Amino acid sequence: MPGSSTGLEGSGVSPRLSTTGSAVCTPDWLGLREPADATARATDLANLLIPHLPATGTIVVRDLGCGTGSMGRWLAGRIPGPQHWILHDRDPEVLDRAALSLPASVTTETSPGDIAGLDAARLAGTSLVTASALLDMLTVEEVDGLVAACTAAGCPTLLTLSVVGSVLFSPADHQLDGVFAAAFNAHQRRRVGGRRLLGPDAVVTAARAFRRHGVRVSIAPSPWRLGPDNSGLREEWLRGWLSAACEQRPELRKAAGPYMRRRLENPDLRVVVGHADLLAIPGGAR
Ligand SMILES: C[S@@+](CC[C@H](N)C(=O)[O-])C[C@H]1O[C@@H](n2cnc3c(N)ncnc32)[C@H](O)[C@@H]1O
Repeated sequence: MPGSSTGLEGSGVSPRLSTTGSAVCTPDWLGLREPADATARATDLANLLIPHLPATGTIVVRDLGCGTGSMGRWLAGRIPGPQHWILHDRDPEVLDRAALSLPASVTTETSPGDIAGLDAARLAGTSLVTASALLDMLTVEEVDGLVAACTAAGCPTLLTLSVVGSVLFSPADHQLDGVFAAAFNAHQRRRVGGRRLLGPDAVVTAARAFRRHGVRVSIAPSPWRLGPDNSGLREEWLRGWLSAACEQRPELRKAAGPYMRRRLENPDLRVVVGHADLLAIPGGAR
């Protein structure tokens, strides 16, 4: 996870910003979250998708923002038949890892670069577009463009693990949980390099865009359930969550350190981090 100066260095809260939906992801972070992602993914939507994939020939899947390939490792075994996965990411370093780590039953190719340029012509011949933990990092214009491209190409689209903004702690801290959550969500919606990120609005925005094109959409919750069984991820997520909140609202730094220590002192702490998966099936796709 990348470092960044947030002023929390002396407070016990690490200056880390790689939480779900943040702008930078490292292979270590993606590896740490992969088991929780796999448990969280909405299997029902994957099952709904299968009848809409080609029944014969090779299924061509494009995984947008593939990272180290977590989506392919989860989904490939659930799709029957031969598959060719085209792995897209703007970070060339993760692409080779992803290509090498997908199940041996599928063929792969890598496509480095920004997915913002994908249009219907490039999607020709694609059976399925997937993405995982990507949508909330896009802007409304980028999501509109992606939806238009997938619709025009008639591609079923499975967009998973987008943050929805809800975080439920047990035990709750009624004073501070909501304050940090609001600051974190504002951070998710921040403007970066002239781009306004969608953050927790991503799923609703994508669903609206598909419906404008007359495309049927199914949405299912895919929350992380963090507790003693995944305490490493729970701690890293908490550090990143607070760090992002404090970057957004620096005046929260003073409270963040003690809050963090109280949280981590409790081995039974549980957190439900809200995500959602979205499946869109353009009419007549098969
Ligand atoms: C949160 S990570 C998720 C990785 C992987 N899908 C997973 O679920 O583990 C987001 C990935 O999307 C990539 N990414 C973000 N925005 C992108 C864009 N506009 N074009 C291409 N890749 C992008 C990042 O480089 C990163 O690897």
